[in-house]
Amino acid sequence: MKKPIPSDPIPCLLSIFTVILLLLDPSLGEPRAQTVQIMCGNQTEHNATIYVPNFVATMENISVQMRNSGFGIAVTGSGLDTNYGLAQCYGDLSSLDCVLCYAEARTVLPQCFPANGGRIFLDGCFMRAENYSFFDEFTGPQDRAFCGNKTQKSTTFEDSAKQALIQAVSNAQNNNGYARAKVAVSGTKNESAYVLADCWKTVNVNACKACLENASQEILGCLPWSEGRALNTGCFMRYSDVDFLNPELGNGSSRGTVIVVVVAVVSSIVVLVVGGIIGAYIWKHRAIQKKRRGSNDAEKLVKTLHDSSLNFKYSTLEKATGSFDEANKLGHGGFGTVYKVSYKKYTQINDLIAAVFFLSSSMICCVAGSFTRWKRDCSEEAFL
Ligand SMILES: *[C@@H]1O[C@H](CO)[C@@H](O)[C@H](O)[C@H]1NC(C)=O
Ligand SMILES: *[C@@H]1O[C@H](CO)[C@@H](O)[C@H](O)[C@H]1NC(C)=O
Ligand SMILES: *[C@@H]1O[C@H](CO)[C@@H](O)[C@H](O)[C@H]1NC(C)=O
Ligand SMILES: *[C@@H]1O[C@H](CO)[C@@H](O)[C@H](O)[C@H]1NC(C)=O
Ligand SMILES: *[C@@H]1O[C@H](CO)[C@@H](O)[C@H](O)[C@H]1NC(C)=O
Ligand SMILES: *[C@@H]1O[C@H](CO)[C@@H](O)[C@H](O)[C@H]1NC(C)=O
Ligand SMILES: *[C@@H]1O[C@H](CO)[C@@H](O)[C@H](O)[C@H]1NC(C)=O
Repeated sequence: MKKPIPSDPIPCLLSIFTVILLLLDPSLGEPRAQTVQIMCGNQTEHNATIYVPNFVATMENISVQMRNSGFGIAVTGSGLDTNYGLAQCYGDLSSLDCVLCYAEARTVLPQCFPANGGRIFLDGCFMRAENYSFFDEFTGPQDRAFCGNKTQKSTTFEDSAKQALIQAVSNAQNNNGYARAKVAVSGTKNESAYVLADCWKTVNVNACKACLENASQEILGCLPWSEGRALNTGCFMRYSDVDFLNPELGNGSSRGTVIVVVVAVVSSIVVLVVGGIIGAYIWKHRAIQKKRRGSNDAEKLVKTLHDSSLNFKYSTLEKATGSFDEANKLGHGGFGTVYKVSYKKYTQINDLIAAVFFLSSSMICCVAGSFTRWKRDCSEEAFL
C-alpha cells in the first residue's frame, strides 16, 4: 500500500487520487483524545540544547511505531539528557484514532518543559517521557484515581461495575494486558457498566496484574459516581455508565500516512484538484523540512517544541469536523477519514472549494484552495 510519492506531478496526482478513493470505506471510531491528566516531573532538564532535539527525535521515532502498532518506545541521546519515551493507545482504538490521540498527546506533553519528564493520560492513549529507563515501572507515588463527580448511580450499578472490573482484570492477563468488559445492570432495560483495562506493553504479566488489581481497587472508591479512572504508572483503567468503548476492530486495516482529509465541496473534479494540491504540497513540504533540519539553534528548538509539533491542534480538527460528527463523515479507510468541514474562507458560490488535512509523521498539515486559485492557507482561523 505504501508508495513512495513521485515528484512528477501527473503520476503523483493519480496516486493521490487512488489514495483518496481508498479512504472511502465506512467504519466507526472515536479517538477519545481528551486529556484526563498531565503530570510533570520535578527535575529540570540539564541542557536544553541537547534535551529538546532528543525529545523531538523520540517523539518522531514513536510516531512511526504508533501508526504501525499503536504502541512505541524510543531512546534518544546519552548522558543526563537522554530521552526515554513510551506511548500507547488503548486496545480499542483504530490506527487512525490512535494517530489522532497520539498527535494530541505529543502536543500537550511539551507543556512540562523545562521539566525533564512527564506523563499524560488521555481517554484514548498514554504517553510518558523521562531521562531514565522507566519502561518496567508499574507502580509509584503518582498513581491516582480520577473520579467523575457529576452523577451518582444506584447500588445495582455498583454491583455491575464491580463485576465488570473483576472480569476485566482477569481477562487482561490472557490478552496482552488489555481487556474490555460490559455488564448489564439488573432491573434496568438498557443500562450497563463498561470497563476498559490496559497495561503498557513494557510491563510484564505479573506487574500488569498487580497494576490492574491496584487500579480496580482504587476506582472502586469512585463508586457510586458514574465514572472512575485509574491513572497508574503501569496501566490505565476506567469504568463508566456510558459506552465509551469503540467497536471491536477487525485486524485487517492497513495503516498509512494520509490521515485526515477534509473536503468542503465534493465532486470528482475537486477530488482531482485536491489530489494535485496535496501532491504538490507534500513535495514542497518535504523540501522545506529537509532545509529546516539544518538549523540547530536551541531557542528555536524550544519554540518549535512549544508551538508547532503540530500545525493543527487536535481541537481545531475537532471543531472543523463538528467533533468528528458522523453526519460530516464522508468515508473512512486504511489511510484515514474524510470529513466535510465548515470552512470560513472562499465561500463564494460557484467556486469550488476544498480544504485538506493530512497528517505526516511530524505534523497535521492543511492545504486549501479553489478551482480558480489555491494556496497553502493553513491558518487555524480559516475554520469555523
Ligand atoms: C520530586 O518527586 C519525587 C517523587 O516523584 C519526590 O520523591 C521528591 O522528593 C521530589 N523532589 C522535590 C525536590 O520536590
Ligand atoms: C549544552 O550543550 C551544548 C552542546 O553540547 C554545549 O555547546 C553547551 O555549552 C551546553 N550548555 C551548557 C549550559 O552546559
Ligand atoms: C527508534 O528507536 C529505536 C531504539 O530506541 C532504534 O532502534 C530505531 O532505529 C529508531 N528508529 C528511528 C526511525 O529513528
Ligand atoms: C536526569 O536529570 C537530572 C536533572 O538534570 C539529573 O540529576 C539525573 O542524574 C538525570 N538522570 C539520569 C539517569 O541521567
Ligand atoms: C467535581 O470535580 C471538579 C474537578 O475536580 C471540582 O472542581 C468540583 O468542585 C467537583 N464537584 C463536586 C460536586 O464535588
Ligand atoms: C436505551 O438507551 C438509549 C440511550 O442510552 C435510549 O435512547 C433508548 O431509548 C433506550 N432503550 C430502552 C428500551 O430503554
Ligand atoms: C495502589 O498503589 C498505590 C501506589 O503504590 C498505593 O499508594 C495504594 O495504597 C495502592 N492501593 C491499593 C488499594 O492497594
